[in-house]
Amino acid sequence: MTDGPLTFRSGYNHDRRSFLALADLLRDTFDIDISRLDRFGGPEPSSMPFAWFDADGRCVANFSAFSLPLVVDGRIVRAAGYQSGAVRPDYRGRGLYGDLMVRAFGWADARGFEAGILLTDKPDLYRRHGFEVVPQHAFRGQVVPKPAKGRSRRLSIDDDTDLALMADLLESRCDLSQRFATRRQTQTFLLNACIDPDIRLSHIPALDTIVAWKTEDGTLRLLDVVTRYMPDIATIVGALGDDGAAVETLFPPDLLGWDGAPVPFSGSCVLMIRPGPEGPVPAGPFMLSPMADF
Ligand SMILES: CC(C)(COP(=O)(O)OP(=O)(O)OC[C@H]1O[C@@H](n2cnc3c(N)ncnc32)[C@H](O)[C@@H]1OP(=O)(O)O)[C@@H](O)C(=O)NCCC(=O)NCCS
Repeated sequence: MTDGPLTFRSGYNHDRRSFLALADLLRDTFDIDISRLDRFGGPEPSSMPFAWFDADGRCVANFSAFSLPLVVDGRIVRAAGYQSGAVRPDYRGRGLYGDLMVRAFGWADARGFEAGILLTDKPDLYRRHGFEVVPQHAFRGQVVPKPAKGRSRRLSIDDDTDLALMADLLESRCDLSQRFATRRQTQTFLLNACIDPDIRLSHIPALDTIVAWKTEDGTLRLLDVVTRYMPDIATIVGALGDDGAAVETLFPPDLLGWDGAPVPFSGSCVLMIRPGPEGPVPAGPFMLSPMADF
């Protein structure tokens, strides 16, 4: 049905039927199942969805804002993140998304968020709302691994004990970088770990640290380091049992005691920021950890 009356709803995550209708929209549009968040304590508590529903209760259009505190050059920035933007094909081209963007950005402005941030493959949608594409850089170099004090252990997100360990450390972690990082996005990390089966999660008991990593083209790629006290990169690489020949961090390595060379990073989406008066675009090269993708 495409011509019946539509009903606007916002902030409906507590309503199970509406949340599952949003999950259907996102599964049909992006092939991503956000109902998996149930296992991780439900959706991000600050999430504020704006949506149109049809008479059958189908969510036909949605755009969500949420609180996404950042660290940028050592300063904590109260930013709003935007995600889950989709309109069902039979409802496109009627201005529904334009309407939801205005509502979501207006909601964030009224609450005094200092900046906005989103990931998209359609940057033109957001330029007129003040968002700018910001380049991202990974960091590449060599590392001489330190001898491991103990072995690392692979974690499985499907194992309840491993999941509890991850959730506990994610909640009490220190910031990944002082140059640019999102702060404590537990559900986002866990959902990303589910979505990409190539991501490996290793626990290093001697450091009480979880490393999210991949090996691709002979390169060890570090995606995130979840810990209360950041170890240096040589200790991490040694504990993972890697020879350290070629290492890349997909986040600024300023807390790892190492200077990788910045190399331009291009993924399927670009990072867009709507800067406030004081930023928040860091002065030096940076990228958003893939475990913080939203
Ligand atoms: C992109 C999408 C959300 C647009 O929804 P929509 O309801 O058709 O958009 P609207 O009709 O409200 O259009 C709003 C404006 O965006 C423009 N627009 C629409 N689709 C666009 C696209 N793919 N790229 C750039 N601009 C686009 C429209 O021309 C319109 O501009 P106007 O106000 O000057 O006329 C929808 O096509 C969709 O769900 N696509 C698949 C999922 C997706 O890409 N989501 C966005 C992820 S960031």
